[in-house]
Amino acid sequence: MKTIRDLELKGKRVLIRTDFNVPMNEQGEITDDLRIRMVLPTLEYALAQGAKVIIASHMGRPKGKPVEKYSLAPIAKRLAELIGKEVKLANDCVGPEAKKAVAALNAGEILLLENLRYHAEEEANDAAFSQQLAALADVYINDAFAVSHRAHASVEGITAHVKEKAAGLLLHKELDYFHRAIDAPQRPLVAIVGGAKVSSKLNALTRMLDKVDKMLIGGAMANTFLKSQGLAVGASKVEDDLLDSARQILADAKAKGVKVYLPVDVIAADRFAPDAVCKQVTVQDIPDGWMALDIGSASVICFSEVLADAKTIVWNGPMGAFEMDAFARGTMALAHAVASSHALSITGGGDSNAAVTQSGEADNISYMSTGGGAFLELMEGKVLPGVAALE
Ligand code: 3PG
Repeated sequence: MKTIRDLELKGKRVLIRTDFNVPMNEQGEITDDLRIRMVLPTLEYALAQGAKVIIASHMGRPKGKPVEKYSLAPIAKRLAELIGKEVKLANDCVGPEAKKAVAALNAGEILLLENLRYHAEEEANDAAFSQQLAALADVYINDAFAVSHRAHASVEGITAHVKEKAAGLLLHKELDYFHRAIDAPQRPLVAIVGGAKVSSKLNALTRMLDKVDKMLIGGAMANTFLKSQGLAVGASKVEDDLLDSARQILADAKAKGVKVYLPVDVIAADRFAPDAVCKQVTVQDIPDGWMALDIGSASVICFSEVLADAKTIVWNGPMGAFEMDAFARGTMALAHAVASSHALSITGGGDSNAAVTQSGEADNISYMSTGGGAFLELMEGKVLPGVAALE
């Protein structure tokens, strides 16, 4: 696959698809700008080559019409601060506004187009819309790994209408790290899988059994596995329709020689609230009506021992409801264990990255992927449409 470094950019209009779909709080402030910071090398490279840089991104799910809270205006502001340069904002990503703004752009300048998803044609991968986007540029660069699992106009459709296309430095880096971790890993390769639902990760879990040596399962999804083994998990969140699938995964793991580690103890609470009454209990002793909301200290010791011996670690999903302090200890301890291991460590997904940042260990993780759904689809062994379109 070509990268941006293989193309001549001087004086050209270079349209760079990024994923600036960053988390925002209720005041409309950006709470994590990882996805913006990670694209800076590509933008700086293009500017240094004398390109006219046009950036396209989506934000949220405005469903095909302008919704102010999904405007990219705060992104333009943050990007300008980070890159130390003016970032112009066009009020629309296609049409007269966009054309005028592109025509006025000089080499070495940056223009951000307004949210692509203000047009329903973006998600519909509409050919005419793809053409309109393509007409704004001489060169197309996909640096939006996190949305490359979507066959949308700015990710997939556009590639049929541009003369030159290539991957940005971030997309290339993401695929390279993924390859090093999953396709050609140093062993033992340990996967840490957590988060709320088995259902959202069922395919990834199944597929990982062919890749990993060991698997640590935590978070609410562990409850389904524990219950499938005949344990009473009180009022904990469980996907009862997936008990058979959980049993099957454990049986397949055994047959394939993959060691699976489930929590041996948990922090149980009488309700899901920051001021709930909590206690640490073994997984055999979760009281009736109580719910498991974090892994316990014995599980942390066990999981940490597995990680200390790992050469490669892939982590997706927290160990508990870490957004509440009372249930954050397990996830934080695991972040420290991953950071102090000697393994190549990769985290993916918004929650895992937020947890790593909260633990203060962001600098000690080898790589924090910007992809959530895209990361999972790679884990499932799928080909991402945005990547296939560049090949
Ligand atoms: C993400 O955050 O996973 C990407 O930006 C894709 O967003 P989507 O799930 O709304 O398509």
